Amino acid sequence: MAEEKYTWHKVAGHTNEIEWQENNIAVVELKGKKICLAMFNNSVFAFAFKCPHAGGLLADGYIDAIGNIVCPVHRYKYNISNGRNVSGEGYYLKHWPVELREDGVYVGMERGKGVFDWLK
Ligand code: FES
Repeated sequence: MAEEKYTWHKVAGHTNEIEWQENNIAVVELKGKKICLAMFNNSVFAFAFKCPHAGGLLADGYIDAIGNIVCPVHRYKYNISNGRNVSGEGYYLKHWPVELREDGVYVGMERGKGVFDWLK
């Protein structure tokens, strides 16, 4: 069996323990670093705390009707599930897989990468 690509880190005991803002985005800590979670269509997504363009705080943005994260600063848009910059500026939003398990909400981190590499 192939080794699993990710190591999984629990960020909450349940989705209803997460402090969702009105925009359905929440900030959680993963190994002491902030990341964002978003709830869209009853699924949870995880992505970087800051916009890759100029560091806008994505938790202050919003999720549009088709599931893009919209940065509050210059309104660049990123696909919530693959990080693609759908408004066309050529950036890429770092994101991570999320699993909802019986005992909690887990975010997957690629193996072989240090926490400080993947949170850049
Ligand atoms: S900082 Fe996010 S679009 Fe410019």
